[in-house]
Amino acid sequence: MFYSWSIAFSVLTCQLLSCFSQSITTAMNEHEIVPDVISVAPSEIIKVSYSSGVSVNMGNELTPTQVKYEPSVNWPADPNAFYTLCMTDPDAPNREEHTFREWHHWLVGNIPGHDISKGQILSEYIGSGPPLGTGLHRYVFLVYKQPSKLTFNEPYLTNKSGENRGKFSIAKFAVKYNLGNPVAGNFYQAQYDDYVPLLPHKRPAAQNT
Ligand SMILES: *[C@@H]1O[C@H](CO)[C@@H](O)[C@H](O)[C@H]1NC(C)=O
Repeated sequence: MFYSWSIAFSVLTCQLLSCFSQSITTAMNEHEIVPDVISVAPSEIIKVSYSSGVSVNMGNELTPTQVKYEPSVNWPADPNAFYTLCMTDPDAPNREEHTFREWHHWLVGNIPGHDISKGQILSEYIGSGPPLGTGLHRYVFLVYKQPSKLTFNEPYLTNKSGENRGKFSIAKFAVKYNLGNPVAGNFYQAQYDDYVPLLPHKRPAAQNT
């Protein structure tokens, strides 16, 4: 009797809470992040919030102005493990002709738990800079759980230049460092606005996203 009541209660709770919200796995499949970026979608959500007041939410549209500065990021982490975080744009220069796929915006390794400030920056954060007339780009956040603390053999990329950002593949990077599939993810979309030409790396002409 108690057992059946508790099942009924769990089903009800599920209906009232999580079962109404779409899962990140479904959202990443629907927006073709699988297979454009990764082959297996993560099951956990990365919470990403910007100081402008906006948050990333499974493909919502944000503006380059809103995502200028490095966001705060959180995910369900094991405090004793190390993680790699990436933000990447598969739609460079646009979703149909993605000859620069992927243009990566942020890459941090050896993050203890979810404390990004203690991680090793490989590529500094650069906000979205989709060129005029290229439509919506997808900006994908992924977190990988590392097998251990790693020695990365990558160039350090600052936010002052767009060099070496394009033709990246987070999936290949994951294979190179034996990271497996991502454990958490999220994404937003953005198109051109009048902040794009003011991005630090855009000031000298360059092809970017
Ligand atoms: C670029 O990076 C520097 C640190 O290297 C930081 O102080 C600055 O705020 C960053 N600029 C933007 C627009 O994120």
